[in-house]
Amino acid sequence: APRILSGMQPTSDSLHLGNYLGALVNWVKLQDEFDAYYFVADLHALTVPTDPAVLRDRTRKTAAQFIAGGVDPERSALFCQSHVTEHAELGWVMNCLTGFGEASRMTQFKDKTAKGQNANVGLFTYPMLMAADILMYDAAYVPVGEDQRQHLEITRDLAERFNTRFGEGGLVVPEPYIVKGSAKIQDLQDPTSKMSKTGSSPKGLIDLMQDPAKIAKNIRSAVTDTEAEVRYDVENKPGVSNLLVIHSVLSGTRIEELERAFAGRGYGDLKKEVADVVVDALTPFQKRMAELLDDPAELDRILASGADRARVVAQATMARVRDLVGLVPAA
Ligand code: TYM
Repeated sequence: APRILSGMQPTSDSLHLGNYLGALVNWVKLQDEFDAYYFVADLHALTVPTDPAVLRDRTRKTAAQFIAGGVDPERSALFCQSHVTEHAELGWVMNCLTGFGEASRMTQFKDKTAKGQNANVGLFTYPMLMAADILMYDAAYVPVGEDQRQHLEITRDLAERFNTRFGEGGLVVPEPYIVKGSAKIQDLQDPTSKMSKTGSSPKGLIDLMQDPAKIAKNIRSAVTDTEAEVRYDVENKPGVSNLLVIHSVLSGTRIEELERAFAGRGYGDLKKEVADVVVDALTPFQKRMAELLDDPAELDRILASGADRARVVAQATMARVRDLVGLVPAA
């Protein structure tokens, strides 16, 4: 089967509903059809200064959340990026293919530095490490949310540039797998901005590990608009549209059907039902998380065996890349 790959950064104790609906739900669906590689981007997380014990804890929690959300480590290779050291090596090769100006134009770097974040060089070269993650596995598709689109574009450019310089058959040019609608879950308090680990206020976020009562409360106080009609209209009704998307993806009900069901009813009803749908989905998730965190040795074993599988592919790719770019083989 063709390969797919995706990753998430362990930059918080809990994933949020955007990570879940924008990415994880699709990871789970795609693992039936593809040879899937899913990883915790712990090297990327080093771009944000974090206490070492906290980073270790979040890395394991992030991996556990992939499993609790439905990633099956028997079928999909589930691993930590740092366990497959080839990622950093291919990242270096990608750095050497990237123009300084090209890297300077990446919007995430520009946004973060514009907000006054004290940038390190790792943040600057972040997209090249991400390109390495993807190109390492000859991934045909990369299931991510909308905010990763520019990173996928530079990855495609780098793969094409590599092939032009070093010969066709070098690296596979990947396609983004971004599902319209769910690829951008918005902040509940500020529905024109995306829900984000770093940018959202606690009331704007739905954390997967949050207490259900708190989740329901945040949804009930979501910002909507001054009309009273439940209608999907991202331009004029971003808050209501966001709630409809959340409901639709989790309940499997089409948005038009939801609009019909809520005709003549108020926003209070909509919020109450969205809260129920979210809590229903997260209850088994949280139960599974408790079991997984109860057995850290088993989790580490899963990560070790995922890394073993990933390393087989990574070593083959690196051998090919080293040869193509002209590095002398170690005898
Ligand atoms: P990260 O950790 O910020 O986010 C993980 C995934 O969640 C998606 N996402 C969202 N989707 C919908 N609505 C939202 N509000 C929302 N917020 C986040 C992201 O698009 C992503 O799919 N650079 C990556 C990690 C990474 C990676 C990779 C991904 C490193 N190497 C290789 C794919 C392939 C990141 O920071 O994701």
